[in-house]
Amino acid sequence: MDSDARSADAVLGAVGVARRPVDSAESSAASRRWWDADADDYQAEHGAFLGDTDFVWCPERLRESDAQLLGDPAGLAGARVLEVGCGAAACARWLAARGAAVVGLDLSAGMLRQARLASGRSGVSVPLVQADAERLPFGDGRFDLACSAFGAVPFVADPGRVMREVARVLRPGGRWVFAVNHPMRWMFSDDPGPDGLTVSQSYFDTSPYLEVDDQGRATYVEHHRTLGDRIRDIVSAGLELYDLVEPEWPEDLTEQWGQWSPLRGALFPGTAIFCCRKPG
Ligand SMILES: C[S@@+](CC[C@H](N)C(=O)[O-])C[C@H]1O[C@@H](n2cnc3c(N)ncnc32)[C@H](O)[C@@H]1O
Repeated sequence: MDSDARSADAVLGAVGVARRPVDSAESSAASRRWWDADADDYQAEHGAFLGDTDFVWCPERLRESDAQLLGDPAGLAGARVLEVGCGAAACARWLAARGAAVVGLDLSAGMLRQARLASGRSGVSVPLVQADAERLPFGDGRFDLACSAFGAVPFVADPGRVMREVARVLRPGGRWVFAVNHPMRWMFSDDPGPDGLTVSQSYFDTSPYLEVDDQGRATYVEHHRTLGDRIRDIVSAGLELYDLVEPEWPEDLTEQWGQWSPLRGALFPGTAIFCCRKPG
């Protein structure tokens, strides 16, 4: 869920937009600076929607307690779970409150500071690790489940590597469920209103979206993968895709989240949730 609170732009000196190749090192460095600068605004803007101990998959407000994409909540007790790109780690705390042994991982110290503040407010703590999702600092087969609600995957230059890393740290039979922007959203501008209903660029153009400073350095990066790319990344990592969830916009949801709005949500999907399993 990309941020629309843009005071980070001023902090980082963003002056424009660019489309050019970005490697993993540049992408990670830009994301780390961006999410550090944006952490307080992101929490101020979205913290109430996400809750301190709640598992909301996406702006369509699909909750894990209803969707049960990680299985029966009663079966979570004792499960070893990794949340990738946890941000303030509300999902991790929801899982911990059900007895799971959860680790929250994020690239940004600023977002992890928000996670510690939320642990203090809620009284539910989880271990937090600052690391890049392209290089998970865990041994093989260490987790039963991995999950991500818009964490890391849309922001990395090599999402295939994230899939391989998650496959490595999962035990055979473990699940990996992750939510990202629906690939078809790439064709439209981020305008939540009527102007965001017109196709403005090619779905097939996978050059990343960058915001840049006056030296041309990336201050914010977002990467697009087509639906086929995402499936190939999953399958090439040795994972099985067993479901693809496209949450519909609930009739009673009036709250807008950046480019996600009731207007657009009624017409086309904004989120894709990939449900994968490591064979075995
Ligand atoms: C849109 S926020 C989502 C946070 C949280 N999952 C939520 O639902 O609010 C994206 C998160 O991904 C993290 N992130 C971005 N790139 C990452 C990377 N390469 N490795 C790990 N985390 C990353 C950011 O720091 C940020 O906390």
